Amino acid sequence: MHNSAFKALGVNAYYLFLETAPDGFRRLLREKKRLPLSGFNLTVPHKEMVLPFLDKTSPEVRLIGACNTVRINGSRWEGHNTDAYGFLKGLEEKKFHPKGKDVIVIGAGGAARAVIFVLLSQGVKSLVVLNRTLSKAEKLVRGFSSRFPDSLYGAARLDPENIRTFLPGKHLIVNTTSVGLKAGEGSPVSSKDFPRVTGRVLAYDLIYGPRTSFLKIAQAKGCRTQDGLAMLLHQGAKAFEIWTGKKAPGGVMRKALRKQ
Ligand code: ATR
Repeated sequence: MHNSAFKALGVNAYYLFLETAPDGFRRLLREKKRLPLSGFNLTVPHKEMVLPFLDKTSPEVRLIGACNTVRINGSRWEGHNTDAYGFLKGLEEKKFHPKGKDVIVIGAGGAARAVIFVLLSQGVKSLVVLNRTLSKAEKLVRGFSSRFPDSLYGAARLDPENIRTFLPGKHLIVNTTSVGLKAGEGSPVSSKDFPRVTGRVLAYDLIYGPRTSFLKIAQAKGCRTQDGLAMLLHQGAKAFEIWTGKKAPGGVMRKALRKQ
C-alpha cells in the first residue's frame, strides 16, 4: 500500500516490514538516534512501549495511550495515532454517525482504546464494553468516563448471558478482539447468542482479510457489516500524509491492498 503510493507520487522512500519481539524492539528504541528511518508504523504489542521514547505526542496518542505512527524529524520523534482516524473513516464509509447512538465494544485491549476514544469523541449516547477479563473492561471504562462524562457507560464479562442482555437494541457492535484473526477461528459472539436485529444495525470487525465468523453471523442476523480493510487503508493513508506532507493517493493504496 505505501510502496505503491510512494511510487505513484514519486516519493523516494521504501516501506518495509520488520518483525521484532518486545525485547529486541526495546533495544532498538535505545539506539533511536542511529536508526536510519524517516518514520515507521507500529503494531501489537509495540504501540505502548514506544511512548517514553517520543519527543512529541499528538492529543490522540495522549488520550488513547497508544501510538501507531512515528514521524522522525531530525532527531525528534513525533508520535501519532492514525488508528482512531482509520476507524472513523470506516464508519463514515457505511454512513454511520455515532452521535446519540448506543454501542457495544467487544474487547478491551489497545485496539478497543482507539475505537472507544472515537465513539466517545463523536458523542455516542451509551457505550458498553464486553471483555473476557472483566477487570480490563472496567478499568478502560473508568479511564474514559472522567474525560467524557456525557455518555452512559457499562462494563461486563463477555459471556453468553451478558451478550444476550446487552446486544439487543444497540446500533453498533464492534469486535476489537483477536478472535477470528486465524483462519477457521470462531467468533467472540456465537450465532446462538447473537440477537436477530431490525433496523440499520452495523457490525464492525477490526480484523481484515477473509470474512470473519463474527461478520458472517452478524449478517445472517440482519446486520450491515464493515470489516477492517477500510480502517487499515485510512490509517495508512493518514500515516502517509504525516510522513510525506502530501495528500495520500487513496485509490492507488486501496487497489494495492485489494491485491494482497
Ligand atoms: P489489541 O491491541 O489488538 O487490542 P490486545 O491488547 O492483546 O490486542 O487485546 C486483545 C483483546 O482480545 C483483549 O480484549 C482480549 O481479552 P482479554 O482482555 O480477556 O485478554 C481479547 N481476546 C483475545 N483472545 C480472546 C478469546 N479467545 N476470547 C475472548 N477474547 C479474547
